[in-house]
Amino acid sequence: MIDFKEKLVDLFIEKYNQFERGEILEIIEIPPQEDMGDLALPCFKFARVFRKAPNLIAEEICANLASNEYFQEIRNMGPYVNFFVNKELIARSVINNVYVQGERYGSSTLGEGKNVIVEFSSPNIAKPFSIAHIRTTVIGHALRNIYKFLGFNTIAINHLGDYGTQFGKLIVAFKTWGDRETVEKDPIPELLKLYVKFHDVAEEKPELEDEAREWFKKLEEGDEEAYQLWQWFRDVSLKEFNRIYEMMGIDFDSYAGESFYSDKMNAVIELLEEKGLLKDSEGAKIVDLEEYNMPPALITKSDGSTLYITRDLAAAIYRKQTYDFYKNIYVVGSQQNLHFQQMFKVLELAGFDWAKDCIHIPFGMVSLEEGTMSTRRGRVVFLEDVLNKAVEKTREIIAEKNPDLPDKEKVAREVGIGAILFQELSHSRIKDYLFSWDTALSFEGETGPYVQYTHARACSVLEKAGVKTFADIFAINGKETTVEPGRALENVDYGLLLEDEAYQVIKQIYTFPESIIKAMERNEPFLITRNIIDLAQAFNKFYHEYPILVEDPELRKARLLLVLCTKIVIKTGLKLLGIESPEKM
Ligand code: ARG
Repeated sequence: MIDFKEKLVDLFIEKYNQFERGEILEIIEIPPQEDMGDLALPCFKFARVFRKAPNLIAEEICANLASNEYFQEIRNMGPYVNFFVNKELIARSVINNVYVQGERYGSSTLGEGKNVIVEFSSPNIAKPFSIAHIRTTVIGHALRNIYKFLGFNTIAINHLGDYGTQFGKLIVAFKTWGDRETVEKDPIPELLKLYVKFHDVAEEKPELEDEAREWFKKLEEGDEEAYQLWQWFRDVSLKEFNRIYEMMGIDFDSYAGESFYSDKMNAVIELLEEKGLLKDSEGAKIVDLEEYNMPPALITKSDGSTLYITRDLAAAIYRKQTYDFYKNIYVVGSQQNLHFQQMFKVLELAGFDWAKDCIHIPFGMVSLEEGTMSTRRGRVVFLEDVLNKAVEKTREIIAEKNPDLPDKEKVAREVGIGAILFQELSHSRIKDYLFSWDTALSFEGETGPYVQYTHARACSVLEKAGVKTFADIFAINGKETTVEPGRALENVDYGLLLEDEAYQVIKQIYTFPESIIKAMERNEPFLITRNIIDLAQAFNKFYHEYPILVEDPELRKARLLLVLCTKIVIKTGLKLLGIESPEKM
């Protein structure tokens, strides 16, 4: 693809070779308004060299740079020089690239040979898979797709919360009030009830807590009864979780959760001991982090049992040994910021230079209108219910608006679930947000169904035109049907795509690859969401303004190319976000 920023630098350096390419590239901006062109060069920085006011410099630079094949117009405006790219050229370049790469348009080999771990979802066994976990699941899945698309070798890990003192509590609760059959029937809600009951009762009977500690200790020591119960809780929970992952089309390369490290923790403790990092604190072992303004990392409790952070340390070391990662990414809510800071610090203090490659990707909290979610209080919204309701609502809409739609059930799932996933990815991840059924189930405005609908609209135009592929379009007007890529593309009149509405579509497609790279660099899938929303809006404007299936074969051809490119890019974008693109809806 033509890199117009580089072309701008070429043009500039040719006249002003006293500057470095890098420093010019760095200051190029995208103007805020269409009438200011596509790229802008701010002249403030040149004031010292030119010894003039920036607007005079802009004037001078503009006078010295002649438009060329890449820029059809160069204008100065105040302290800026504005560049208008050659619309015909950009149209040709974009269409050529989408044609050659197809659904791989925007992909790259940037990450070749590099292993990236994306740890996400990581729900807790025996607890509900609630909407609190939707964000890590959806953001993490999108990140994994993005890294993969850019050529990285990804390893998706579900660090299941399947270990810890809460299992002692659950064992006590189950042994006291539980019943196997009831749990088998509806595992997670029943286990949740037991967990909630434990906390209610323990408020009056604190000795229950001791009992729970005792049982967790037994579990750590390999006690048969404790182990059997734990294994059973884990099995029934995983079955439930997998049903939800399947609904969302998500899978993992590894389910090595906390329990996986239960036999790898002594090594960690020994290592920390060896490095002289462990301190005794009333029988517990800690790593003092006061120097770094953090509370101490608690490595073992006074009864010798290990903690969440101990297991995370073991996991990081194991991952480095097993995957030799380039990046080890943790997609976990911002409530755990301190936990990750402490853990990364301990790794660094232990002398692991790769500690810097461990990255916590936080996201904001989801709260409910009735207050924060709390598993202990049983105040949760089950993710599965949200997904099911969205599908149900879509089903109703289809029944009302498009009852003859083929594959209704499949489309209802793709659109309903897509709506929920899209919503998660339609704002910056760090923002907290309030979950509301109304917004989750609204299909108006900048939503997943809107973008999917735009894709389906493009499909329907192509279908009406009787074309499926680029070759079908190139064949219009009886010109060569089986031509090499270059020649076929020469048979198109790109000058027919100069209307502003068409140009906006081209521009969005042009920036799509860039948005993927940025999404990777900032670990922010939302940047892709933004790009495809803008593309959908630009396309719909174009579609409303200009008929596509016109008589004139050359015009028809050019416009159909735009439709096909739009369809491909929306589909790829949605796929990166983990969302399907039905062809009809
Ligand atoms: N299971 C934890 C939770 O639900 C998240 C685990 C995050 N990952 C980690 N490596 N600590 O809160």
